[in-house]
Amino acid sequence: MGSSHFVRIIQFFILLQFLDSCLSLPLCTDSRAPFSPNSTLQFCPYNGTVCCNANDDLLLKNQFAAMNISDPACASLVKSILCSRCDQFSAELFRIDSAPRQVPVLCNSTVSPNSTQSNQASLNFCSKAWNTCQNVSIIHSPFAVSLQGRAGAPTASNSTKLDDLWQSQADFCSALGGASDDGLPCFDGAPVVLNDTGAAPTPPTGLCLEKIGNGTYLNMVPHPDGSNRTFFSNQQGKIWLATIPSQGSGGVLELDEAAPFLDITDEVHFDTEFGLMGIAFHPKFTENGRFFASFNCDRAKWPECAGRCACNSDVKCDPSKLTPDNGANPCQFQSVIAEFSANGTASQPSLAKNANPSEVRRIFTMGLPFTSHHAGQILFGPEDGYLYFMMGDGGGAGGDPFNFAQNKKSLLGKIMRLDVDTITSAKEASRLGLWGNYSIPKDNPYTQDLELQKEIWALGLRNPWRCSFDSARPSYFACADVGQDHFEEVDLITKGGNYGWSVYEGPSKFKSSAANTSQILPVTGYNHSDVNTNEGSASITGGYFYRATTDPCMQGRYLFADLYAGTIWAGTESPANSGKFTSSKIPFSCARDSPLSCTGTPGSLLPALSYIFSFGEDNDKDVYLLTQSGVYRVVRPSRCNYTCANEGSSDAASPSPASPQPAGAGVLRAPFGVLGVIISFLCMALVNFV
Ligand SMILES: *[C@@H]1O[C@H](CO)[C@@H](O)[C@H](O)[C@H]1NC(C)=O
Ligand SMILES: *[C@@H]1O[C@H](CO)[C@@H](O)[C@H](O)[C@H]1NC(C)=O
Ligand SMILES: *[C@@H]1O[C@H](CO)[C@@H](O)[C@H](O)[C@H]1NC(C)=O
Ligand SMILES: *[C@@H]1O[C@H](CO)[C@@H](O)[C@H](O)[C@H]1NC(C)=O
Ligand SMILES: *[C@@H]1O[C@H](CO)[C@@H](O)[C@H](O)[C@H]1NC(C)=O
Ligand SMILES: *[C@@H]1O[C@H](CO)[C@@H](O)[C@H](O)[C@H]1NC(C)=O
Ligand SMILES: *[C@@H]1O[C@H](CO)[C@@H](O)[C@H](O)[C@H]1NC(C)=O
Ligand SMILES: *[C@@H]1O[C@H](CO)[C@@H](O)[C@H](O)[C@H]1NC(C)=O
Ligand SMILES: *[C@@H]1O[C@H](CO)[C@@H](O)[C@H](O)[C@H]1NC(C)=O
Ligand SMILES: *[C@@H]1O[C@H](CO)[C@@H](O)[C@H](O)[C@H]1NC(C)=O
Ligand SMILES: *[C@@H]1O[C@H](CO)[C@@H](O)[C@H](O)[C@H]1NC(C)=O
Ligand SMILES: *[C@@H]1O[C@H](CO)[C@@H](O)[C@H](O)[C@H]1NC(C)=O
Repeated sequence: MGSSHFVRIIQFFILLQFLDSCLSLPLCTDSRAPFSPNSTLQFCPYNGTVCCNANDDLLLKNQFAAMNISDPACASLVKSILCSRCDQFSAELFRIDSAPRQVPVLCNSTVSPNSTQSNQASLNFCSKAWNTCQNVSIIHSPFAVSLQGRAGAPTASNSTKLDDLWQSQADFCSALGGASDDGLPCFDGAPVVLNDTGAAPTPPTGLCLEKIGNGTYLNMVPHPDGSNRTFFSNQQGKIWLATIPSQGSGGVLELDEAAPFLDITDEVHFDTEFGLMGIAFHPKFTENGRFFASFNCDRAKWPECAGRCACNSDVKCDPSKLTPDNGANPCQFQSVIAEFSANGTASQPSLAKNANPSEVRRIFTMGLPFTSHHAGQILFGPEDGYLYFMMGDGGGAGGDPFNFAQNKKSLLGKIMRLDVDTITSAKEASRLGLWGNYSIPKDNPYTQDLELQKEIWALGLRNPWRCSFDSARPSYFACADVGQDHFEEVDLITKGGNYGWSVYEGPSKFKSSAANTSQILPVTGYNHSDVNTNEGSASITGGYFYRATTDPCMQGRYLFADLYAGTIWAGTESPANSGKFTSSKIPFSCARDSPLSCTGTPGSLLPALSYIFSFGEDNDKDVYLLTQSGVYRVVRPSRCNYTCANEGSSDAASPSPASPQPAGAGVLRAPFGVLGVIISFLCMALVNFV
């Protein structure tokens, strides 16, 4: 049936050093995904996918009325500025990732020449705002708030003119203006529209792989010190510290199987879908030596390893009614996150070659109702430093039989977000009903939806098998979610987002009797009929947005695969930063000079990958496939005789802070009132056979 399987995690790590932390992606100022309101907005001229509901619209209307702006031209302009909160790109317009603003970034004169706008005046919206409102009194002016006291206190009447606040247009625009040169949109008086070129950029001719290791691993996490060292872990319970050979060197992975960094095989329960599922290193690992493992344990063999059962009265589930699954009692097996330390085995954590196998602290323990679908990947958010924990629906016959994934009190079928830097006292944790030693980030979505259990970041997942943050655009948090009978999906995860399972599988209704619910559609994926596997099934393995310089033709594309079929896809976003993807199967082959032979049958250049369990990314952003037959790295296309016009331009051998601009980054904004391209998450994978 379904498909699912094995395990999880990969990690993505912090590369703040060259991130200019741009957002991009339709997103609201509260970090939620844009939505379709129940009714048309009456005040703000936004429709389609927006960031305001009727109530927000009314509040903006009242705020505007209270400003009592006498000049009609200025009033109209201020209204448009207030209403930009409703834009589906409002998170970007208000730059919520840096210091959040009261006023969106107003398009300045230095706007991108590729703008579709032809109207000269609107090309310089900031100047227009100044000229129109310079001498007009505005009560509780949003511009005054933005000033933060820099140019004198507001007048006693609470009424200000721009003239009172800034010396000149240049001052005004230097404070509030901005251009799209940095790849982010600015506000020009109308909804943001991306420049749709129509056709998706041509996919690369192929993916060239070299084999650098023979081992089978589930997780690969680059060392937080930024070096050429990387941690690998297997499902049985060992972590190794390995050195990655430089690109083109002909070297293989330096990994000593006999000398693991950590060995917890005695604690780990290992079986088809059980094991050491995830590892994550604290962003400040080089200072504090903290790292984390997500694994499964068996209460029958290790009685202390027991947490509250995920099937409990809070979620309207009676554990005594659960039937044993594969011979296991309900909640015999647990999902655990444990903290370990690299202190004490070396003079500083980054020199440590092994770690103490005793747990420093148990972060999380939860009993599992059945034996499948409990994902288990953990990774730190590159911007917020919180620990994200991927959890499946808990399995069971018929597709989430207890509807855990849609149950807002259940942690099954969810992505959780935990603060492991502030540990709640045991007493408080028990009062709050926490599942261990962590605290709840203040802005988790339960603050907006009181029904949500506090740990939850996103819901409606079936078995999220490998998630990653785009290293160039941290707001792109992509998760592959394994499907049941038909559709394998890729989701862009947003705060509080509901991804539909088990009411929907992909875009289609799964439980016909379930009430319709609003779901965020997958951005891409594939149908089971698109792959051909011995198992008669399919199971997606999520990968990475490719950000290395090695293969320029892969730049910015999202790589993912089918676990069984060994098929690889590249998802291409078009227009850039729209959240709209098309995916193509891409051919791949083995580099003729691969350090370890990776061809299957002699004479064939097809690598014998067998199962693709996971992907990995190193500190140079080079991408790896972790397969049953070994570790493969994406290398220069010419090593496979694939052509990529720009290949010569990168020096593959040198570690370089790649992170080039997102493909086609000159994003931009657009013409008046045209909703031409209302970018929705309306995905629809166009799976082409190549
Ligand atoms: C639409 O209406 C329903 C029922 O009144 C409500 O629960 C839901 O939150 C509304 N959705 C939006 C986007 O306002
Ligand atoms: C709303 O959408 C319709 C078509 O979907 C479009 O014609 C109209 O201009 C839009 N209205 C506004 C105010 O953007
Ligand atoms: C609004 O403006 C008008 C004229 O500009 C003025 O007469 C009136 O008193 C103002 N109202 C408030 C509440 O400030
Ligand atoms: C605003 O007032 C200043 C002088 O106080 C004047 O020079 C300027 O032209 C006025 N601007 C507009 C747009 O009326
Ligand atoms: C200015 O605003 C403050 C806070 O909103 C209010 O208490 C005060 O009465 C206002 N002053 C005037 C003169 O309107
Ligand atoms: C806006 O343009 C002016 C000159 O036209 C420039 O001095 C200013 O730095 C620009 N502001 C921003 C934020 O780009
Ligand atoms: C944007 O659209 C215009 C007009 O359709 C086109 O000429 C221009 O090349 C496009 N720019 C980009 C970056 O796609
Ligand atoms: C990998 O396996 C091949 C074939 O068994 C063997 O020749 C090679 O030495 C192995 N390489 C490493 C790095 O273990
Ligand atoms: C890894 O990096 C170190 C430090 O830059 C270098 O000395 C070493 O040769 C590199 N190892 C490999 C296998 O490239
Ligand atoms: C590890 O060392 C760091 C830095 O000295 C210290 O802050 C931390 O408490 C230590 N952790 C443990 C578990 O000993
Ligand atoms: C690939 O290119 C090399 C060097 O140009 C050539 O010798 C080889 O025959 C080519 N292989 C294939 C399969 O085209
Ligand atoms: C803008 O347009 C120019 C000329 O049409 C083109 O060379 C350039 O690549 C475009 N820039 C972006 C970011 O698309």
